[in-house]
Amino acid sequence: MRNLSSYLRVITFVGIALLGIEYLVKTEEGKWAIIENPYAGVFLGIVLLFAIAIEVSIASLKNILYYTMDEAARERYDAKQAEKSKRFVRLKERLQKMMTRSKPVEEEHEIVLDHNYDGIRELDNKLPPWWLYGFYLTILFAAVYLVRFHVFDDYTQKEEYEQEVAEAKAAIEEYKKNNKDLIDLESVQFVTNEDDLSAGKQVYTTNCVACHKADGGGGIGPNLTDKHWILGGGIKNVFKTISKGGRSGKGMVAWENQLSAEEMQQVASYVLTLQGTEPAQPKDPQGEEIWELERDGEGNIITDDK
Ligand code: HEC
Repeated sequence: MRNLSSYLRVITFVGIALLGIEYLVKTEEGKWAIIENPYAGVFLGIVLLFAIAIEVSIASLKNILYYTMDEAARERYDAKQAEKSKRFVRLKERLQKMMTRSKPVEEEHEIVLDHNYDGIRELDNKLPPWWLYGFYLTILFAAVYLVRFHVFDDYTQKEEYEQEVAEAKAAIEEYKKNNKDLIDLESVQFVTNEDDLSAGKQVYTTNCVACHKADGGGGIGPNLTDKHWILGGGIKNVFKTISKGGRSGKGMVAWENQLSAEEMQQVASYVLTLQGTEPAQPKDPQGEEIWELERDGEGNIITDDK
């Protein structure tokens, strides 16, 4: 386990194992399985140890074989090894030459320039091709960029920014959709879009009409259409009453185990929109607290979160 190829073999082996782990072990996007999952890391460590162990065993096996060979065989083996390493050196030189096109030291006198500053002289080497083609690429890039953005006026930075913001907003919406229970006493909002309100009405019709009546006029439970509240109006209080229930023994149970947080937000919002409607048989107002919904000139509810 002393030469380059055995190191390369170990690295390749562990690399393949790493790819395999990342492919097979499920993680959130952008996260590494070997960091998130301790077993994956341990497994990779074991693979590494095995790979090293195999290389070490092969090396010592070769050693033993070498010492059991007779003189002639040993010579042939050495010659072969020497040939191999020579070939490797030649390959390295060729590659280096291709990358730099530099002159070997023995031929440098052919390209040395005539000026001489205090003994410092300059070689007129060819530009290394890797650098030269990189430079050509930047020119090409600049040309394409110029035509695309300054001649044809493709998107601007502002548009790019706006698009990214829109994408981020969509991602937030998506996240909220998948994590409905993010809504809690702190973050609950008065939602007034039609979808939410009709979903809220649905929840109300299924669960609440027995005590509050379909039109909110009240029965066992208080009238929900007036400005009087026993337990406080406004989205936060109403959400709290629905999720945690009313005063004990009064009949209003906590709904947080039956309804999702989103459903409670929807039905709470729906309940608020009942204020000011005229039920068929309204129960007398109950509660000391007065909470009035603000409405604009056209009767639309004004919410802070618009
Ligand atoms: C079993 C009957 C019953 C059912 C069903 C019921 N409630 Fe109630 N509700 C009550 C009673 C009784 C009160 C008064 C609680 C108190 O005084 O503490 C009340 C109070 C409330 C209040 C507070 C009113 C105030 O003046 O502060 C809200 C809001 C409310 N209910 C909404 C709902 C919603 C929404 C549902 C359906 C998810 C529902 N209730 C289902 C009986 C019921």
